[in-house]
Parts: sequence; structure tokens; C-alpha cells
Amino acid sequence: MSSRPPAIAVPLLVPDLPAPQQLLPYLERMHAARHYSNFGPLVGELEQRLAQGQSAEVVTVASATLGLELVLSALALPPRSRVLVPALTFVATATAVARAGHVPVLCDVDAASWLLTPTIAARAVRDLGAQAVLPVATFGAPQDMRAWAAFEQATGLPVVVDAAAAFGSQTLQGAAGRLVFSLHATKSLPAGEGGVVVSSDAALIARVRQLSNFGIQLQPGGSVPVGHLAAVGTNAKLSEYHAAVGLAALDRWDEGAQRRRHLLARLRAALDAASGGALGWQDLGPQPLAAPVALCVRLGSAARRVQLERLCKRLGILTRRWYQPLLSEVQGGTQRWEAGALPNARAIAQDLLGLPFFPAMDEAQQALLATVVREVFCAAATPAAAAV
Ligand SMILES: Cc1ncc(COP(=O)(O)O)c(C=O)c1O
Repeated sequence: MSSRPPAIAVPLLVPDLPAPQQLLPYLERMHAARHYSNFGPLVGELEQRLAQGQSAEVVTVASATLGLELVLSALALPPRSRVLVPALTFVATATAVARAGHVPVLCDVDAASWLLTPTIAARAVRDLGAQAVLPVATFGAPQDMRAWAAFEQATGLPVVVDAAAAFGSQTLQGAAGRLVFSLHATKSLPAGEGGVVVSSDAALIARVRQLSNFGIQLQPGGSVPVGHLAAVGTNAKLSEYHAAVGLAALDRWDEGAQRRRHLLARLRAALDAASGGALGWQDLGPQPLAAPVALCVRLGSAARRVQLERLCKRLGILTRRWYQPLLSEVQGGTQRWEAGALPNARAIAQDLLGLPFFPAMDEAQQALLATVVREVFCAAATPAAAAV
């Protein structure tokens, strides 16, 4: 018997970037201006368009990871400050804290929303101590910015939201705050690589911009003359090439976001029907996500997750245990990161599975996904699943 892996029938994620002809007008402008980086006209236009309609300032950066690191640096916390981070997140949330010279302290998440909430953070501040909080808009689910603003007022601790996967779905909601988005190829506003920092705090945005340009003083009136080194920064500027892709992606934003919303609604209905309502879903809040980027379900048991994974693998359907192992199980450099009690995060990590989700997913791929879910939930009655 052949043990060759099956051809990929359903990929996990397929980036949805603008076509070359959609980039061309922007690339021609860039080339005519001979301006390829260093806060060029395309970066300026992208930042302006992203700031439209918000009472907030925007700065672009080379990635969300660098954006998080620079916002934390710009907050000027004492070295080795303790920063609360959810245990269920991508590793970059915690590595950004460590690279900014601070100590990630891992917290539990809410059982329904899978988010680190202000209530959980308040308990962790009391039990573990912290000087800042870095909650995540996990899988694109928006954080409640008014609740976080109230938390900041009550505790005096700054909050930075890692909204890497939540462009379009997470906003400041009229509150003061700091958001960091990713423009990675797999996100809803893809530029290939890139990040965006949004904040109501104009001084913070100016500091992040300066830190993204090596720390060189960019405006008059600072502690050093313009052109001198004001802080130890890095090079985290978004290039004009990436801004061109970001602008072209913004031109087709509405259409792409709508396709994502429809696909999630359709898949959710199909998988609910296929599982007899047995799948567990993240509580996404009062409104559907504006631009979902992932399809994550809880299978109800570790055994059922393994069953679904095996059946998917056999049929060439790609899955991923997103954000697993939990950060509490990951070696953070030379030592493990400190963690509080994590009952909800540990329970979620027992049976959470990421399923294929991408705007170009066709009807046959959607139907195949529903079929494997049906087989797993009717395992005893169906020979295909029983043989897995
Ligand atoms: C929660 C979270 N934070 C940070 C990042 C890193 O974003 P970037 O690739 O733009 O650095 C990701 C990437 O997917 C993420 O999911």
C-alpha cells in the first residue's frame, strides 16, 4: 500500500492579495517618485486612509510583532515590568513583551469569548502583579475597548491590544486606547508583511514612528535636534512596496470583507447541521465579525479532535491546532514564562481545532468539510470514520 500523503483537497488558508494589475498604478507612482521607503507618499496615503473616520492617529510598521514591541517601548515602563498576556495566543504576543525588555505573565482567558478580559486581568493584577496588560483580539474577536478604558482608569495600568487578526472587526469603539494590527498575507487587509498601530494618543504614535526609524528625532521641539538620536529604536518602517499592496488591498476591502462574512456564516450553519449542534464556537460578541480570518471550533473532547484531524489528514483537508501548545508550555528563551491558573485556556486547548477558511474556498471544499464533520459526529454509523 502506498503511504504517500494525499493531494491537498482543502488548504488551511489561502492568502487573498490584490492581483499584479491592481498594484500597478501604485507601483508606477512609487517608481516615478523614486521614493521606496522612509515614510514615502504611499505610506502617507495608507496611514491617512486608515485614519479616516476615526478620532485616532495611525502609524504603519513592518509587522504587528514590531508594532507591539515599539508600543511597549514607547510606554517607557520600568525595565522588566510584568505584562499580562493571555496563555492562548500566538507566540509573538509574548516575544514582543520580552524583546521590549519586560516579562510576560500568562493569564487565563474567558470560557465563552476565549479572550483575556478586564475581569480576568483585574484578578491577575491582584494575584500576580503587573505593570501593563496586552490582551489579544483572539481569532479576530474584538476586545471591549470601553471596558479596557475603565480598567485603565481604575488601575492606572496601560493596556495595548494585540489586534493582529482583527483588522476591520476591532476598533477603538470611541474609547481611548492602543491597537496593533497585522497586514500579514493571511490577514483581512494583506500587504504581504506589515503592521498598523492605531491610538487616540498622538504622542504615543509619534514615539512609535520615531522608534521605527532607529530612534532618530523627526520633529523639532524634542530633547535633541532633528536628525539626532533621541532613543534606541530599530528599523521597522513599512516600505513603499508594502504600502502599495496595502493600498490596493484597501481598494477591494468591502468586497473581500463581505465574502469573508458570508463564508463564515455559511460554514457555521453547515457545520452546526453536520454535527447536530455539538460544535463549540467562540462567543464573538453582539455583532458578526466585519472580516473573519479563521474558522475555529471546539470538538467537545480531545478524542473527537484527534478523530477529525485523522480523517481530514486522510482526505487532504488541512487543519491546525491554532495557538497550541499554550504559551505556558512553550520555552520562552531560557526559562518558562510565569503563569497564573489557566483552567479555561487548558480546557480550550484540549479540543480546539482550526479548520480551512479562505475567501476562495469553493462549494465542493465547503461540502467536503461538512461531510467529514458529519462522519466524525456519526462515527459509529459510518464506515469511513470508523476506519480512521
Ligand atoms: C495574535 C497575534 N499576534 C501577533 C501576530 C504577528 O503578526 P505579524 O506577522 O504581523 O508580526 C499574529 C500573527 O498571526 C497573531 O495572530
